[in-house]
Amino acid sequence: MSSYEQFVIPEKFRKPEGVTGQVKVGIAGGAGFIGSHLGKRLKAAGFYVKVADWVKNEFMQNDEFCDEFHLVDCRRADACDILCKDCLYVLNLAADMGGMGFIESNQSVLMFNNTMITFNVLEAARKAGVKRFFYASSACVYNELVQDTPENPGLKESDAWPAQPQDTYGLEKLYAEEMAKAYQRDFDIQTRIARFHNVYGPHGTWKGGREKAPAAFCRKAIASTGELEMWGDGKQTRSFIFIEDCVDGVLRLLFSDLAEPINLGSDELISMNDFATMIMQFRKDGPLPIKHLEGPLGVRGRNSNNDFIKEKLGWAPSIPVKVGIEKTYRWIESQIEKEVAAGAKMTDYVSSKIVVQSTESLDKLNDAVPPTNGAYPSTNGKH
Ligand code: NAD
Ligand code: GDD
Repeated sequence: MSSYEQFVIPEKFRKPEGVTGQVKVGIAGGAGFIGSHLGKRLKAAGFYVKVADWVKNEFMQNDEFCDEFHLVDCRRADACDILCKDCLYVLNLAADMGGMGFIESNQSVLMFNNTMITFNVLEAARKAGVKRFFYASSACVYNELVQDTPENPGLKESDAWPAQPQDTYGLEKLYAEEMAKAYQRDFDIQTRIARFHNVYGPHGTWKGGREKAPAAFCRKAIASTGELEMWGDGKQTRSFIFIEDCVDGVLRLLFSDLAEPINLGSDELISMNDFATMIMQFRKDGPLPIKHLEGPLGVRGRNSNNDFIKEKLGWAPSIPVKVGIEKTYRWIESQIEKEVAAGAKMTDYVSSKIVVQSTESLDKLNDAVPPTNGAYPSTNGKH
């Protein structure tokens, strides 16, 4: 089955017996990249979408992806109660997250923040009587020892245990998976868990340090002139899933019977050198030479094994990276054009930053408003 055929949510979930009016769905982190795309899709399917996030979406008005927006901090139990109230389904997409320029240099702060979010959203969902719960896990849960060569044959779900994730980000995700599984065993709540493998597409973070390789390479290919900068020797490999496949996969999983964590990733493995060269084909004057720099590298090779998802859901992501990345490139080009017209310089975009850890978000835990001074840079200071 092609992923271009969008999944249609079965009527029994859209109009369950005994529920009058629109079914309410809550999305924690719903102003973020994946959360806002999911909100848009669920709204279009007729659901009443509630979003809780501590920032507003940078690219869309609230009513494009939700019916109700709560500007709250999901590390707090009271905020999560507001989100989950009256919801039949809840999706937790909230996390203090980013690519290699963020997760390696922010290990303590992100672990605290994400643990608090994990606890509070799940427990609020249980208290509110939510029936189905989705948790956004990551390929970062996998044991680093099975990701030490570029020729990764594909990580199977069973490769997560025995556990040795590379960073605290992955360890927290693994713990959160176990918590969601325990809640399902012990309480009247169905939990669904997907391990995302590097999701990319329009509306994703593309500058500031939290962006991942797809957006960073597009931005640099657009702005660079002599050479394109890259962390590492470029022989490291990854697979990348386009946002449309990701949203479709989350909905297929949420409304399935599959209670075990599954990979939600592409199995199209590519080296960073080949990926950057593919992206540079979109430049008017062709590819540039690559300048290799020291930087945070992550694992040596990572790919998704999709046997389990095919067996259980009869579907797997299939949008070719070349197709998805061109759409992403064109979108980033339009963002850069806007910023340059407003006074930015092309040279602002040629290098990637590493986000330095700050305790600002920890110090503001009990404040009513989220941190504003760049602890969450994708906001550009807008709250
Ligand atoms: P994102 O940063 O765009 O979205 C996360 C959202 O969570 C943001 O809008 C952020 O403001 C919000 N958030 C963070 N802390 C919060 C808090 N304390 N209270 C309220 N909101 C808070 O990232 P994304 O790419 O959309 O990722 C969504 C989820 O998927 C995250 O859990 C992430 O860890 C997971 N994931 C993403 C990828 C990927 O490649 N994008 C890969 C693996 C896992
Ligand atoms: N971000 C980024 N920016 N990465 C670069 C750059 C750059 O300018 N240049 C080279 N790279 C290299 C990184 O060093 C890494 O080896 C590879 O590109 C991929 O980097 P990312 O896309 O940042 O992250 P990742 O694939 O290692 O991990 C991401 O995916 C996980 C899920 O698969 C992260 O976003 C995790 O948070 C996520 O859970």
